[in-house]
Amino acid sequence: MNVLGIESSCDETSVAIISDEKLKANLISSQDFHSNYGGVVPELSSRAHLQIIIPLIKDALQKSDLKLNEIDLICSTAGPGLIGALLVGLTFAKGLAYAVKKPFVAVNHIEGHIFSGFLMEEKPEFPYLALVVSGGHTLLLLVESFSKIYKLGTTVDDAAGEAFDKVSKLLGLGYPGGPKIQKVSENGDPNKINFPIAELKDTFNFSFSGLKTAVLRYVQHNYSDQKNIHDKDLADIAASFQNAVIKALVKNTEKALNNFEVKSISLVGGVAANKPLRNSLIELGKKFNKKVIVPRMEFCGDNAAMIAFRGLRIYELGYESRLNFSPFPSLAKEHFA
Ligand code: KG4
Ligand code: ZN
Repeated sequence: MNVLGIESSCDETSVAIISDEKLKANLISSQDFHSNYGGVVPELSSRAHLQIIIPLIKDALQKSDLKLNEIDLICSTAGPGLIGALLVGLTFAKGLAYAVKKPFVAVNHIEGHIFSGFLMEEKPEFPYLALVVSGGHTLLLLVESFSKIYKLGTTVDDAAGEAFDKVSKLLGLGYPGGPKIQKVSENGDPNKINFPIAELKDTFNFSFSGLKTAVLRYVQHNYSDQKNIHDKDLADIAASFQNAVIKALVKNTEKALNNFEVKSISLVGGVAANKPLRNSLIELGKKFNKKVIVPRMEFCGDNAAMIAFRGLRIYELGYESRLNFSPFPSLAKEHFA
């Protein structure tokens, strides 16, 4: 079975091919030019997807040593994401499926992330806790099987990645914030400033907007301008902020481990690339004697390998999508029980 996956929900165009369960290609083209604008410009993103999608598909086929007519299943992200960006990949995938007369499966981007641990040699074991941390979402989920996902908690305001991006901007470090904050933090003291960690009683929910405001107030109170922050202070602020985000994520995951019997923990999404967060979750796993699966870097951020993998599992469960399937920009309430 040869599966083609397409991802175009935000600022990465990605095409992947899985052949007989083996990943043959996972090509990712990142739109770096958005850093000039301090964030993703949706219309520019759509246009860039449009320019690169055909060359990427050709490259992926060549790398996998396959012809288009040897593809058996076509999968594409349908949402959540930027509507114009989603339309490019989704419409292309549907058109391709129609042209080559092959089945098509529309994939929920978050479900792609949730199962991205299965792209690793060591895979998660059901039931497992999935901590999804990306630019747009923060979710703690109980994953019982490929068709049973229960939402335990989510953010009530900003997503973890969004907090990294906003704090990076206010510190003058630029976009995307996560990698910049991680880098600057390497020279800082994570315990220097006691930034607040929201405690939402009796839920597994998260909140990051108070933390973001606390960093803003700290900077406003101590410096006349963000440009006047010394390098050492900047490193301490970034490291203390990063530490507060990690503590909030780990604390809720620990709470869930005390309440649910699981076999493993999987950290997924763009923020899963964060080294100190990965280490903290691995430590937590040791404490509870649970296997911790953290995808390698190419599977943390947006990629089509996770879309092809998820699409294949949906197909195996007996589902196909119609060719009039519409993209969905946001996660609907009924997603995840
Ligand atoms: O999953 P993803 O690629 O796109 C979405 O679906 O949102 O996640 C992107 C997010 C951005 O907010 C980015 O700042 C964050 O992941 N990120 C990181 C790191 N690398 C990327 N956050 C913290 N530390 C990192 N090393
Ligand atoms: Zn994502």
